[in-house]
Amino acid sequence: MVNVIFCGFGEGMDKRIIARTGDLLLRVAESNGVKIPTECKDGTCGSCAVRIEDLSVTETLESTTEDYDANAQSVYMDDKELNTLVEMAAITKKEAEIAQQYNRQTPVRLACQCTIKNDILVKPFE
Ligand code: FES
Repeated sequence: MVNVIFCGFGEGMDKRIIARTGDLLLRVAESNGVKIPTECKDGTCGSCAVRIEDLSVTETLESTTEDYDANAQSVYMDDKELNTLVEMAAITKKEAEIAQQYNRQTPVRLACQCTIKNDILVKPFE
């Protein structure tokens, strides 16, 4: 089980949800009354983009990139999602390449494509 904290989506929608690992973020939001805009639900329109913060990684002032890499969960992101995020300028091509190469989650995800792996903070993209 993992914690999903929604913040900034509007009145009554800031909440902490206990979800199952592997749950789809959009489904968790919808079934708990958090409204995330959607159109295609297929990873191509970009309307469900949200900012994600990985809460399982503890950082201190002394933390190094190596510390972060050692703590971060491996997260696979599909090419379709990465391409959509690059096309809408939510992430750079370089960030997409790093995400692919190191199985890292980008700071912006598409809720309809994002399976939850660990504790996360979710905020609106805009
Ligand atoms: S709803 Fe279109 S990309 Fe998620």
